[in-house]
Amino acid sequence: MIEIKGLKKRFGEKEVLRGIDLTIPKGKTTVILGLSGGGKSTIIKHIVGLLKPDEGEIWIDGEEISHADVNQIRRIRKKVGFLFQSGALFDSMNVYENVAFPLREHTNMDEDEIRQRVIERLEMVALKPKEVLHLFPDELSGGMRKRVGLARTIALNPEIILYDEPTSGLDPITSDLISQMIRHLQDELGVTSVLISHDIKESFKTGDWFAMLYEGKIIEMGDADHFRSTNNPYIRQFLDGRSEGPIQFQK
Ligand SMILES: Nc1ncnc2c1ncn2[C@@H]1O[C@H](COP(=O)(O)OP(=O)(O)O)[C@@H](O)[C@H]1O
Ligand SMILES: [Mg+2]
Repeated sequence: MIEIKGLKKRFGEKEVLRGIDLTIPKGKTTVILGLSGGGKSTIIKHIVGLLKPDEGEIWIDGEEISHADVNQIRRIRKKVGFLFQSGALFDSMNVYENVAFPLREHTNMDEDEIRQRVIERLEMVALKPKEVLHLFPDELSGGMRKRVGLARTIALNPEIILYDEPTSGLDPITSDLISQMIRHLQDELGVTSVLISHDIKESFKTGDWFAMLYEGKIIEMGDADHFRSTNNPYIRQFLDGRSEGPIQFQK
């Protein structure tokens, strides 16, 4: 479904991605793990065409997108839902308008169809439409904001959903709720998902397939059982959350 080949990206002096090779299977959730500042968000920004590679290729559904023109990018964006790390709701719009936004941008749906879709999507993320439709983002809790962001992400029936740290900054119980919701959407919609996380244990709840990013490369891939039982000292250190070990931190 998505194939990344030899992806390299530098920002100024800093070579963030040093040759990423990654195949993301259709209909599954692939988790990209790694340290904060390691380049995880940079990888998914390439998948939505927000960044262009210095070198390498990105294939989505048989199309190489890193040289795509504006129209191609627009078509890809419609197919790919992106839940930003910040949630990124429009503060000046209420919940209804936030979820309706991509429908207005990308479809010719009339207001009745839009309303119906918005209500359906809010219900899918376990929000009560009547209670939340008129609220503004600053009137919502962190967990509710994430869920509204999720409802907006799935508004256009994407084939691919990219989640950038969907549970970061949330308490453990709300995190668990969001993880279950992602799992549920995966089962219900059968989409291909890519989830970025620095929380390996939380990501075991949602992921089918895992890839660990370290120093600009994918150093290990496998399923949850493989990651739980591996002897790779980098993965073990990450799993145990120890600052002592082979992983070198940037000063
Ligand atoms: N647009 C940019 N310009 C300059 N540096 C950037 C830009 N985007 C990311 N970086 C840098 O690249 C590194 C990786 O960032 P990021 O992909 O956000 O990491 P992660 O998501 O794994 O925490 C960081 O050092 C960050 O400061
Ligand atoms: Mg990030």
